[in-house]
Amino acid sequence: MTRVRLEDIERFWRDQNPRRRALRERIDARRLPYAVAVENLSKDRNLGNLMRTANAFLCGEILLIGGAAFDESGSGGIYRFERLRHLADGETFLAYAREAGYTVIAVEIDPRAELLHRFVYPPKPLFLFGSELQGLSPALAERADSRLMIPQYGLIPCLNVTISCSIVLYDHVTRAHADLAPAPVKASKYQLDPRSGRA
Ligand SMILES: C[S@@+](CC[C@H](N)C(=O)[O-])C[C@H]1O[C@@H](n2cnc3c(N)ncnc32)[C@H](O)[C@@H]1O
Repeated sequence: MTRVRLEDIERFWRDQNPRRRALRERIDARRLPYAVAVENLSKDRNLGNLMRTANAFLCGEILLIGGAAFDESGSGGIYRFERLRHLADGETFLAYAREAGYTVIAVEIDPRAELLHRFVYPPKPLFLFGSELQGLSPALAERADSRLMIPQYGLIPCLNVTISCSIVLYDHVTRAHADLAPAPVKASKYQLDPRSGRA
């Protein structure tokens, strides 16, 4: 397990060569106008994998509500390329989300929530997820602009948070950005950067 602090990432980029910085800028230029926020997820091992999904679907930024240091296992190192922002608590998060013009969507199991496949995405959505152990805090969920949930049909009461995020981002990007061409594929891998073929 590797605990990472946001300052570690800043330090990493200070030492990087221009080619690597240019690669990051090219990815940033293609990012889509939506965000993912996770409440208190920094304490569990899901965040690394979630960042990998966020990168695959060109998420604009990832907001960490609560803890700022996280376990990067599962990210394949891609967490360094993500746009991460730490917000100390729910109030700070909501103030930032309003200021940035996001529509906050609580992704949670809730009888009032719209089912994912029927959900109509606003122009600048922010998908808010809860932690694996506690879920989304009711105080924050109540203040979201809308709610969506992934339909489930089996016995298990809920999905893993990273799996949930992956399903939502896939649905959002393929429906709301249907004309976006996927990255080119070579030797059974997507090429993150078509110019260099490498991350
Ligand atoms: C494992 S769940 C948390 C469950 C929590 N222990 C509880 O019992 O309330 C982690 C997070 O994944 C997301 N999630 C899981 N299943 C979901 C579903 N079917 N629809 C929407 N979000 C879901 C939610 O954001 C949730 O807070």
